[in-house]
Amino acid sequence: MTSILSALAEPSTTTTLVHRAHPGPAPWWRSAVIYQVYPRSFADGNGDGIGDLPGVRARLTHLSRLGVDALWLSPFYRSPQHDAGYDVADYRDVDPLFGTLEDADAMIAEAHRLGLRVIVDLVPNHTSAAHPWFAAALAAGPGSPERARYIFRDGRGDEPPNNWRSAFGGPAWTRVTEPDGTPGQWYLHLFDDTQPDLDWTNPEVRAEFVSILRFWLDRGVDGFRVDVAHGLVKAEGLPDFAGPSAALAPPHEGTHGSEDGATGAGSLGPMWDQDGVHEIYREWHAVLAEYDGDRALVAEAWVEPLSRLALYVRPDEMQQAFNFPFLTAPWRARALREVVTESLAAYDAVGATTTWVLSNHDVVRHPTRLGLPEPGGKPSGIGVGDQQPDEELGLRRARAATLLMLGLPGSAYLYQGEELGLPEHTTLPDDERQDPTWRRTGHTERGRDGCRVPLPWVADAPAYGFSPTGRSWLSQPESWARYALDRQRCVPGSTFEMYRAALALRREYRLGTGSLAWVDGLPGDDGDLLAFVNRDVLVVTNLGTATFELSGTDLEPLLASAPLPEGAAGGDRVAVPPDVTVWVRRR
Ligand code: NOJ
Repeated sequence: MTSILSALAEPSTTTTLVHRAHPGPAPWWRSAVIYQVYPRSFADGNGDGIGDLPGVRARLTHLSRLGVDALWLSPFYRSPQHDAGYDVADYRDVDPLFGTLEDADAMIAEAHRLGLRVIVDLVPNHTSAAHPWFAAALAAGPGSPERARYIFRDGRGDEPPNNWRSAFGGPAWTRVTEPDGTPGQWYLHLFDDTQPDLDWTNPEVRAEFVSILRFWLDRGVDGFRVDVAHGLVKAEGLPDFAGPSAALAPPHEGTHGSEDGATGAGSLGPMWDQDGVHEIYREWHAVLAEYDGDRALVAEAWVEPLSRLALYVRPDEMQQAFNFPFLTAPWRARALREVVTESLAAYDAVGATTTWVLSNHDVVRHPTRLGLPEPGGKPSGIGVGDQQPDEELGLRRARAATLLMLGLPGSAYLYQGEELGLPEHTTLPDDERQDPTWRRTGHTERGRDGCRVPLPWVADAPAYGFSPTGRSWLSQPESWARYALDRQRCVPGSTFEMYRAALALRREYRLGTGSLAWVDGLPGDDGDLLAFVNRDVLVVTNLGTATFELSGTDLEPLLASAPLPEGAAGGDRVAVPPDVTVWVRRR
């Protein structure tokens, strides 16, 4: 029994250990808290209204003050920006929008000087249609080695080669006009038609990406976030997909899996999670291992069940894989407990760390998701005319969810702005939207712009201090002044100070490499409570509607996601109000 458990001393209390602390020293990524920078919306150095690398560099002290271990930057490479940089035209250069290669070097050097590691994005599933390889493929014609770098096929008459749909809506195939002017072959794009998929059975493609990895490793990056890591290899013969029509949407509750419930290779469809992807990551693992400093790969893989996702982080593959089942879980004690337990078991089975995440640039921000009538899940954007969230309730739950997440053993990713409690921009004018999803779904799915709005740094400055000229590529809501960093820094109880305190305590109590034992049978728990012990800290989240009274001896709340009621905040009682997480230790 750890001391915190003996402090509870209730005969009815039982514990179930589901994860042991990591023995001995661990590489940094096992427990790291990593902050996602979305460069175009973080900080604008040159005043054009789009964030850039000099802007990132100038604000790195914000990250070291916050107390994270590393940052991951979404793509800043040369790109026509049809998918906000996930359409790369040159993997070895910086887009002028974001600066220069020298700016990237200076940003990496400054981050390292501040003790922050740097992860960059790698987009291997597709290039931009503006990549020289694609231009060469179009020019060279059918059957050429240039076309063989992509997935070009003849159609079925005038129909595309198969029935696959793009993740952004519409068909996943586009027909080209051949150099002689005739309607010709079709190329595959699992995303926008400006993002042609590469053919990963082609050794030239594989060699090119090893060279790109080395290019950035040589520049000193500490790792790569691998975009669409589950999509590189397609089922042999590119068979029609027999599953639900939302085939290519990332899986979430109820809409994924094959109709017979199979959960093996490719059960999400013939374009996802094929066994052949693992060979690629084994090769990359070996490349990273040649470099010093525990460099890491993190998989963006929308794969379920968790046992399939865990295959990406076997000892000779990647180091981390985002835990999206946790992100999409509904705000209910039982569902959260299940996903945490299953995650730890699945990753433990392969000796990997669990990588928690609540928000990123592809999903509605968690304060907003948790303020919806059905809190949780994965809505596809919110706009004018849609049901609006309860902002206060959402923020309250988001803070509770964050303390729950940061109390868990493993690594965790934060998305820029969540340390301010920033909600989604849910009334962004539709004519500002740039996400291809909005266009490709015939304006039925609003997409991801609402979570990509530039950050508020200074409440009273133009564009809230995002840009020296007050320009901002997406308009910021008027209600955001109260979220600005300068309104929160050094303000007790602010979301920023809560994150800062949580990160400091997480480090002090070594929670990232810690353990997890569920605590059951606490008197008054009627099933709406999540309570677990990680090393010497008891984490309690109340998902019910009544205040829960934790009783014991010498209880000391270390941190709470909302103010605790007077008179029941320590000693023999700690009150945990609804939608609140409290970290408690024994005094
Ligand atoms: C996942 C990225 O996170 C998303 O922003 C992008 O649109 C797709 N992959 C395609 O690259």
